[in-house]
Parts: sequence; structure tokens; C-alpha cells
Amino acid sequence: MSILQQKIDQVVAVLQQAVRDFPPVVFANSLGAEDMVLTDIIARNRLDIGMFSLDTGRLPQETYDLMQKVGERYDIPLKVYFPDSAAVEKYVAQNGVNGFYDSVAARKGCCFVRKVEPLRRALSGKKAWVTGLRREQAVTRGTLEVSAYDADFDLQKFNPLLDWTNKEVWAYIRQYEVPYNKLHDQFYPSIGCAPCTRSISAGEDIRAGRWWWENPDSKECGLHVSQGSLQASRNKIQEISGRVDTTEKTVG
Ligand code: ADX
Ligand code: SF4
Repeated sequence: MSILQQKIDQVVAVLQQAVRDFPPVVFANSLGAEDMVLTDIIARNRLDIGMFSLDTGRLPQETYDLMQKVGERYDIPLKVYFPDSAAVEKYVAQNGVNGFYDSVAARKGCCFVRKVEPLRRALSGKKAWVTGLRREQAVTRGTLEVSAYDADFDLQKFNPLLDWTNKEVWAYIRQYEVPYNKLHDQFYPSIGCAPCTRSISAGEDIRAGRWWWENPDSKECGLHVSQGSLQASRNKIQEISGRVDTTEKTVG
């Protein structure tokens, strides 16, 4: 059996465990490459896992194109959550329509309104959620586990692709002809909101195009990394680099 097949079997086992021990389970689908792998695995194995996307209102057109395709290709409904309109209006009135470029705090405020609060609603009443996080994506993700209690949202969190490499993700996509975001073909390995995502150059880190004006150790939007684990990651970075941490301390 190939290594990829072994890894696929492990993912199925993790998801089956989630369904067995923590129903109801939902999958947070950003429509990134990892999440398309999970979509395909969930659909192929007919796992009882709901699927949702957070539409921040600032996604690239290519992401909406893929959202449409997912609806056509798979028979699992993709529920879309939008931000609270009054909260967005207030944020824009106070910070400006592109206020997220002004400071880390303003950026996290926007992520909170457009992603974290809708995520809270999406997870309400659920016992577990599934994400496409991978350990090698970022310094802030080194301490994650495949299955752990998520104290921020008070439910179990499963990261079945945690130890997958980027190469394995793409091997799966090619093997099963999974639809993917066309921006990936234009040097966008990691895709979020349009104004906060750019393409990367050869040799750059895969998340270098996300919030590119910020330090790598603050690049989380509050969906995944809590105050505690972010501080642990910062300590680790400081330990390695020996530099003083002057970055923003509040998270989403
Ligand atoms: S982010 O925190 O920097 O935006 P990233 O794009 O790496 O996250 O995605 C990591 C995981 O978070 C995804 O695999 C997915 O499970 C979840 N996620 C991120 N953005 C969304 C979104 N817009 N809708 C649903 N899930 C999302
Ligand atoms: Fe706002 Fe940018 Fe965060 Fe999207 S990624 S919610 S536009 S700050």
C-alpha cells in the first residue's frame, strides 16, 4: 500500500472516530487545497459530517467559482455563513473599508467580525469540528494535535491532515481529480480574503502571501490559535531567534 493510501486511511479513521464519539460533527471548509481533499474524502466515504464555509464578503472571485463547483460535484450541502451586517457596518464606520491594513489590532478586529463571530454561530450546538490545518503551514501551528479539546469554542477539534505535506495534498488532488481554486495555479498556495492575500515568489514560505505586511508570529485570524497557544508559539520563536517580541498581544 502506498504512503498516500495509508495516510488517506488514517484520515478516514480519524473522521469515523469523530462521527462515532462526538456527533454532530461539522467541517469548516475554506475551499483551500487541504479542504478540497477533506471534502472529497468525506463525500467518498459518505461520512455523516456537515460542511460550512464562512463567506467574509471579501473573498476572491475564484473562491466563489469553486464554491459553485463544489455544489455541482458533491452531494453534501455547503452551508454558507455571513458576518452580522450591523457588526460589519460598525467596523467599517470606525475603521474604514480597508482599515485592516492600519494595525494588527484593526486587522484582527476585521477577522473577528467577518470570521470568528460567524464561526461561533456555525459551531453552535456541535460536538466537534474538522479543519484542514497542517502543522508545516506556519510557526503558529506547530503545537496543534490531530484531536484535541478546543477551549476557545468549547468542543472537540479534529485536524486529520495535520501531518500531511503540501506534496501529499496535491498528489491526492491529482489522483482523484478534485476541483481546486484556480488561484493555486497563479502562485497562491494559501488563499484567504482578497485584500489580505497575494501571490508568492519562488522560495517564499507558503503563507508568505497571507497578511504579508505582518510578522509570521501574528498571522492568525483567531479561528484556530488561542491566546495561550499563540503565546507558547511566540516564546518558541523568541527562544530560537533570541529577539524581543514586540508584536500585538491580543488575538481575534
Ligand atoms: S486562516 O486562519 O489563516 O484563515 P487557513 O486559511 O490557513 O486559516 O485555513 C485553515 C483552516 O481553517 C481551513 O482548513 C478551514 O478548516 C478553516 N477555515 C479558514 N477559513 C475558512 C472559511 N472562510 N470558511 C470555513 N473554514 C475556514
Ligand atoms: Fe478582514 Fe482581511 Fe481578516 Fe478577511 S482576512 S476578515 S478582509 S482582515
